[in-house]
Amino acid sequence: MANAYLDIGIQSRMNRIINPIDNRVVMLAVDHPYFQGPTTGLRNMSATIKTLLPYCDCLMTTRGAVRANIAVEDLGSKPIMLRVTGGNSVLFEELSDEKLTVTIKEAIRMDAAGVAVSVYIGSANQHQTILNLTDMINQADEYGIPVLAVTAVGKNMARDLRYLALASRICQDAGARIIKTYYCDEFSRLVDAVAPTPVVVAGGKYSRPPDAIQMAYNAVQAGAAGVDFGRNIFQDDNPVGMIKAIGAIVHGNHEVKEALDIYTACLPGARKLD
Ligand code: R5P
Repeated sequence: MANAYLDIGIQSRMNRIINPIDNRVVMLAVDHPYFQGPTTGLRNMSATIKTLLPYCDCLMTTRGAVRANIAVEDLGSKPIMLRVTGGNSVLFEELSDEKLTVTIKEAIRMDAAGVAVSVYIGSANQHQTILNLTDMINQADEYGIPVLAVTAVGKNMARDLRYLALASRICQDAGARIIKTYYCDEFSRLVDAVAPTPVVVAGGKYSRPPDAIQMAYNAVQAGAAGVDFGRNIFQDDNPVGMIKAIGAIVHGNHEVKEALDIYTACLPGARKLD
């Protein structure tokens, strides 16, 4: 029989991550330095986080970033999605050689609402990274902590429905409670393939605001629970306008044009992040 207390733990943490009123989430990804070092928009990470935190539901970040850049009083009750895999850098071509880097005890000590594990399906290290995911799920389940699986895309992988749905379904079968993947054509078929597991989309490289907002809109219309955007928010000239516009799409069911108006209204006085 399932342990009801642990199920309550999972549910309660899921409710901190994904708003239970509309089942949607704006997650802000600021975990990039774990493999790419200094990152535009995150060089003064503590300022970036302070600026954007009020407008996101959950912060996806790393242990070191929390230690170095986030004051408890600034974090308040904002939930953390803690990245617990790594072990490589952009200096090495093959990024998939990752292992678990943070223990479940540390995640509990940090009061993480969830933990994030990347898998590299189809890469030289697919076996190892899928086992990273299942190992972490085995540990996290013991304490009622949800695991978010990130379908990381190696350089040779097509970001199409066939690949992303396959990777996402493997994550669901491993026991992931949330799946983070990339947007693709016919995205609703991916969402259907892993229903009822919630899916959030990564933003990818910085693009123009209308394109990023349109992608968020398309993803939510196709059934995504929301976004886990990073660069398209913190590298924009108008980062607060951008995250507010994304919030309007995700939680307000706004049209793209309305979200762009929100973005534009924040332009006067907008400050680029370092
Ligand atoms: C990917 O593995 C990491 O979680 C990234 O930091 C995250 O996907 C980045 O978000 P974005 O692509 O929107 O910058």
